Amino acid sequence: MLLEKIEELKAQVKELKANNEEAIEALRIKYLSKKGEISALFNDFRDVSPDQKREVGQKLNELKNLATNKIAELKEAFKACEKEANKIDITRPASPGEVGTRHPLSLVRKEIIDIFARQGFTIADGPEVEDDQHVFTMLNFAADHPARDMQDTFFVNTDASDVTRNIVLRSHTSSVQTRVMERTQPPIRIICPGRVYRNEAITARAHCFFHQIEGLYIDKGVSFADLKQVLLYFAQELFGPETKIRLRPSYFPFTEPSAEMDVSCMLCGGKGCSFCKNTGWVEILGCGMVDPNVLEACGIDSKVYSGYAFGLGVERITNLKYMVKDLRMFSENDVRFLDEFKASH
Ligand code: DAH
Repeated sequence: MLLEKIEELKAQVKELKANNEEAIEALRIKYLSKKGEISALFNDFRDVSPDQKREVGQKLNELKNLATNKIAELKEAFKACEKEANKIDITRPASPGEVGTRHPLSLVRKEIIDIFARQGFTIADGPEVEDDQHVFTMLNFAADHPARDMQDTFFVNTDASDVTRNIVLRSHTSSVQTRVMERTQPPIRIICPGRVYRNEAITARAHCFFHQIEGLYIDKGVSFADLKQVLLYFAQELFGPETKIRLRPSYFPFTEPSAEMDVSCMLCGGKGCSFCKNTGWVEILGCGMVDPNVLEACGIDSKVYSGYAFGLGVERITNLKYMVKDLRMFSENDVRFLDEFKASH
């Protein structure tokens, strides 16, 4: 009986497992303390017949040693584990993770917005999927104007019998002008940054989507001189205080008179170089006085109010500031290209 019990406990002790101090101590108490199971066997040992005492005594001692060693082993293993865990210095600062960078177009857009915000312009927004009315008709485009042509504009539905035939992806942010004017009476002083779409083959110099910022100021007695001053401030803030501007007559359906603005070449300062094709000037935006037809189409009395508008391409200005040669770089998300703008933050 006693021998069986000893064997049974031996088998148990061999399998003992514990991975924290409390559990190990509990095992020690269970087997080796004065009231433990092994001590209980020593009590029973008194009743063993003299001829068996030697054998049972030996086995009992073996069991006790086994249990003592096993508990010591568990303690040792636990200590080693703990030591290993302590090797990790939890107070060490984490290694710096890779941080992202602002996209160059976002950097430039923000810079442009800030310059106009300092002159009292607030931001307005409009839909990218627009109707023909707001993109063309209310902006005084003739019904047969070539910009409506399939070559330039993405139509959402090309089925001529469909009522959604006049839904397009906006081809310029001037559409936000009409959205704002039809719901707001002057004074209006807004800029509208946004993405625009044109049905163009993707090359280094053209893309089927790009970004524009539209400006609009409508109030009583707004003149061309006001427009010129706002644009001069803009150019000098963006390209430096030495920058000069030049306005050349041009044509847009929604402005009269219309102009294109050049700035003195940022590479040669206006002396003439290969970048500006020896003219000393680089074109940066279109502008003009809002055509009275546009004001009337939007419900603004053109006898009382006048205003100016301008529109610029964010990619164009980013190219001029950072000399990016290929427009496709802006949408390829190559981190080597994006990383180059880290210092510009
Ligand atoms: N919408 C024109 C374009 O996409 C840019 C433009 C020119 C906007 C003259 C204007 C403006 O507001 O007055 O090419």
